[in-house]
Amino acid sequence: MTEAGKERAAKAEPRGDRDGAAQRQRLREGALQLFVESVRDYALFMLDPGGRIATWNAGAERMKGWRAEEIVGQHFSAFYPAEEIARGKPEHELEVAAREGRFEDEGWRLRKDGSRFWANVVITAVRTREGELIGFGKVTRDLTQRKRAEEDRLAMVAQEEGLRAREELLVVAAHELRTPIAALQLHADLVRRTAEREGVTNDRLVDRLARLQHSATRLSRLVDAVLRVATLEPGRIELARQRLDLRALVERVVEEHRAEIATAGCAVRLEPGPPAVVSGDRHLLQVLLENLLANALKYGDRQPIQLRVAARGGRAAVSITDRGIGIAAERLPALFDRFSRAAAPRHYGGLGLGLWTVRAIAEAHGGSVRVASEAGHGATFEVELPAEVGAEAHAGASP
Ligand SMILES: Nc1ncnc2c1ncn2[C@@H]1O[C@H](COP(=O)(O)OP(=O)(O)OP(=O)(O)O)[C@@H](O)[C@H]1O
Ligand SMILES: [Mg+2]
Repeated sequence: MTEAGKERAAKAEPRGDRDGAAQRQRLREGALQLFVESVRDYALFMLDPGGRIATWNAGAERMKGWRAEEIVGQHFSAFYPAEEIARGKPEHELEVAAREGRFEDEGWRLRKDGSRFWANVVITAVRTREGELIGFGKVTRDLTQRKRAEEDRLAMVAQEEGLRAREELLVVAAHELRTPIAALQLHADLVRRTAEREGVTNDRLVDRLARLQHSATRLSRLVDAVLRVATLEPGRIELARQRLDLRALVERVVEEHRAEIATAGCAVRLEPGPPAVVSGDRHLLQVLLENLLANALKYGDRQPIQLRVAARGGRAAVSITDRGIGIAAERLPALFDRFSRAAAPRHYGGLGLGLWTVRAIAEAHGGSVRVASEAGHGATFEVELPAEVGAEAHAGASP
């Protein structure tokens, strides 16, 4: 501006106005400072060019726990975990901010009490008009909640993927088993017929052939049950319903598993009582009972097993009590989930599908299953199903 121009400008802006502008500027700066100091959701503070903390706002105190008088003057590496300091991260961040004007990052930072929080950090280089670096402005947000929610979501996705992979494997395995089992059934049948045709009278041989056939049939039923149950949601299992007596079905399952019961060394007793008629899918209810019995035998520690069947108030219930290893309280809530296992896998084999299957079948019937157990003191599983009207009196249903 020329001298004449300056003179004109000075005339155009009288002295009083110039004082007013300076005052407004001071007010604005004061207001800005108040604003920065009172922001509570962001830590806003300044570092000197060497990285020492120069200012500190309410948000910084709230987020990080230090009061201004405790932290101003200290190096900002106080906010970093030891491993980050060892890697030279704080210095690196300032270098980048000085070179490029800005640095942004997300990572774990420390509070005064040593706890960690997940921070979004922006560091901005502050320079004079002439370009001299006078410090850094630092804005930190606490994103721990978002980070944890994201981690939980990822863990859930991973868990679900794991479950799906196991389920697929199981279904593939069951499919693959179908063909050899069908061949086994066919050949067992052919051998039995041949024996019949040729008048074989060896009782032990005939008996063993019958057992062979019986086992092949059970195997095939099991594989079918896996295929039917593993992939289906409880609400979508199709039932081939018929009137049947739950008590008779329990008797039959016990009868068919004499060999396993003998091997397990548990005395199995069904409390006597009247029939309990339900409308159910015989195969699936048999699978349900077999799973409960198999568990009682497996985890029953060679102790007696008690079965009860009752019909009361429109519900039919079957319960099985063992005096075996029991289940720790913390395992109970997820016990019926797919692939959930509570016992040491080294000692007890299994997939963790049995109880899931039990629940799926019970619920498909409009029923439910409960467990009462204590570690070391055995377990009682009770399945409740809607009973047919007059269940207590009706004795004519097929087992
Ligand atoms: N009667 C029981 N006593 C003690 N623990 C039991 C009993 N029944 C089930 N459990 C526990 O519950 C878990 C889940 O049972 P579930 O029948 O679903 O699986 P599994 O028996 O391990 O395998 P499988 O798929 O062959 O049945 C078992 O691993 C076991 O830890
Ligand atoms: Mg089981």
